[in-house]
This record gives sequence, structure tokens and C-alpha cells, in this order.
Amino acid sequence: MRTPLIAGNWKMNLDLAGGLKLVADIIAGLKSAPAKAVEVLACPPAVYLQPLAQAAVDSALKLGAQNVYQAPKGAFTGEVSAPMLVDVGAKYVIIGHSERRHTIGHHEDDRMLNLKVRATRAAGLTPILCIGETLEERDANATLDVLIYQVAAGLVNYPVKESADLVIAYEPVWAIGTGRTATPEQAQEAHAHTRKELRRLIGDAADQVRILYGGSMKPDNARELLQQPDVDGGLIGGASLKADSFLAIVQAALEVVG
Ligand code: PGA
Repeated sequence: MRTPLIAGNWKMNLDLAGGLKLVADIIAGLKSAPAKAVEVLACPPAVYLQPLAQAAVDSALKLGAQNVYQAPKGAFTGEVSAPMLVDVGAKYVIIGHSERRHTIGHHEDDRMLNLKVRATRAAGLTPILCIGETLEERDANATLDVLIYQVAAGLVNYPVKESADLVIAYEPVWAIGTGRTATPEQAQEAHAHTRKELRRLIGDAADQVRILYGGSMKPDNARELLQQPDVDGGLIGGASLKADSFLAIVQAALEVVG
């Protein structure tokens, strides 16, 4: 049984006061939720991690980062390493979000993302490796090939015994921030295919890996997505910036696990 993970990706939004308020509101909302049935995570901008992690101490809310650098320390101006994220209270790191794979100035490739995944795990954090096809790739019927490639490339030399501490996020690029969501059937097909590839790579441990769906997940579509057998949670952008909508998605996950 995989515990669903509902993760908010705040991207470059909110200021410190707004982040503190959102964290406080989420924690207040989680007080009535059955502990441990669903894992809840917020990934704010890295500069706010420490105060927000302090605000979330002893609560059901965990904190994560949106990116990491692959080296533990050194002359890498402007970068933040995995051990530094540990220091400021992060438990997870989003790696390879499409806004880092595809946007000008980043273009992070699979080799770099693999190094980031391994550096994250080496520091004791859980990587959330994002994969997903562009609209052109979907239209060219290349979706499943893209997912297989991105999973295999992202996990080169990843220690199998650590695989329970691995999360994959399937985020079709055409669904991110667009209001267009994959249908539950499209999501399930992509997730099942991804798990099949994971099984080839890491054997039975694949059954423990949570595969999140991301891309315009909202309170009104969360339940039917989360009901799919291989959808183990959500990576939520826009709807994670308001406590009401984020908590409504947590609630949907709780109802699905029953
Ligand atoms: P969205 O973003 O929910 O706003 O589509 C999801 C993501 O980018 O992780």
C-alpha cells in the first residue's frame, strides 16, 4: 500500500509573510485529518525553507525544495547543495521540473538530472523526479517512449535499495499551468507504463515508488485522478498557493484511501 503524497510546488510565488500564513493555514487544516493516511508537502522557494520549516516543526506538513545543485559544495556561484537543503529542513527535492528542463537559461538535461537525483539521495533527501512529454511529443505518439527514456536516464546508477525513497512525478508539459488536465485514463496509462519501466530497472521495489500526477490538478478533478490505481498523489502548482484549494485536494486523497 502506497501512502499518497500531496505536494505543493509554489514555484517563485509568495513572500515570506504570505508563505508563513499559507503554512499556518495548511497546518491548521491538517489537524482534523487522520495522521499518516496522506503525506503532505510544501515546496517553497529555497530562501524561505528555514523559517517555514521552523513554523512547521511538529506538524504533519513537510517541506521540500524545488531544485538542487549536484555537487555537495565548492565554487558554484549562486547554487544550493543537497546538504544545505538538509540543514534548512527540507525532506524532498523536486528535480527536473519541466520549467527547468525546457525553459531558456536552464535546459537541464537527463545526465545533469541524474546527478541531481543521486546527490539528493546521497544527502538523505527524497528526490521527486519529474518526467513528461511535450504537446509535440504527444501528438507524435511518442509519450510512452519519452517517459521510459526520462525514467531510465534519471535513475542511472540509482541504488535499488533506496528506491522506496524515490518519487516520480508525471507532468505532461502541455498540462502545466494551462488549465488543461490529462484525463484520468491518460494519467493512468502514463503511470502504469512508468511503473512497468521502473519494474524493469529496480524490480519489485517499483511497487513502492509513488508516482504523482502534476498538471492543473485542482479540487474538482483531483478525486478522479487520484482514484486511478497507479496515481499515488499530486504535484500541484497553482492550486497549492491557497490553503482552501490545497486542503481540498488533500481531502480528496483522504477520501480515496478511505
Ligand atoms: P499547475 O503546476 O498545477 O499549476 O499546472 C503543476 C506543476 O508545475 O508542478
